[in-house]
Amino acid sequence: MNKKTAKVKCLSGYHSKWVENRIKFILNYFNYDLTDKRILELGAHQGDIGGNLINFGAHTTCVEGRVEHIKRGEERHPDIEWKHVDLDIEKWIFESEYDIILHLGLLYHLKNPDYYLIESQKRCDHFFLESQVIDNSNEEICKIKDPADPKKHGPGQGINAEAQLSVKYIENRLDNFQRFDLKELGGCGHHYDWKAKNDNTYRNGRRRFWVV
Ligand SMILES: C[S@@+](CC[C@H](N)C(=O)[O-])C[C@H]1O[C@@H](n2cnc3c(N)ncnc32)[C@H](O)[C@@H]1O
Repeated sequence: MNKKTAKVKCLSGYHSKWVENRIKFILNYFNYDLTDKRILELGAHQGDIGGNLINFGAHTTCVEGRVEHIKRGEERHPDIEWKHVDLDIEKWIFESEYDIILHLGLLYHLKNPDYYLIESQKRCDHFFLESQVIDNSNEEICKIKDPADPKKHGPGQGINAEAQLSVKYIENRLDNFQRFDLKELGGCGHHYDWKAKNDNTYRNGRRRFWVV
C-alpha cells in the first residue's frame, strides 16, 4: 500500500471530523509511515483512531472500559487487539514498552488522572495526550467529581469519575512536551486554538493537545 495515499476511513460517526483531524495530525507527525510501530491506545472508544493507524503500518492494541464499544470496534476494525480494562485500576498490565501511546479524551474521566499520565510517558518513545482543561496555566487545579451517573452521562464519558484539571496541573506532569494549539486539530465543537485567559473556567470542547 502507498501509505501516503491510503485513506482515513471507517469512522463511527462519533464526532467523526474531530476524530479524523486528530488521526491526520498523528499521521503527519510520522510522515504517514507507521511501519511496525507498536501503539497502545488508552480509552479507545470503538477504535477509530488506532484502527485507522493500522492502515499505515502500525500494530495497535486498544484499551477500553466499556464492552459495548469493544464489540462494535471488533466488528469495524478486526485487526485491532482489544483489552477490556477499567483504567481506574492503577496497575500497568500491558507490554512494558511501546513506540507510541495515545491518551486522548480520557484524562478527565479518571479517578486518579496521574497514574496513566506518568506511567505512559515512561513506557513509550512518543506520547500523545489531549484533554479538556480548566483555563489556568499558573496554578495546579484538580477537581475529582462524583462517579458518573449512567442516566446523566453518555457512553463516551467516565465510568467511575470525572476530573477537571488545569493546564498547569497537566503540564507539570509532562516531560519536555510540545503543545499544539492548532485550529486544524479541532472539529465537532472541540477546539485547541483558543486564547488562554487563566480565568479558571471549564467549558465543553475547550481542550489542549500535547506530544511528549
Ligand atoms: C471521550 S471518549 C474518547 C474516545 C477516543 N479516545 C477519542 O479521543 O476520540 C472516552 C472513552 O474513554 C472510555 N473510558 C472512560 N472511563 C474509562 C475507564 N475508567 N476505563 C477505561 N475506559 C474508560 C469511555 O468508555 C470512552 O470510550
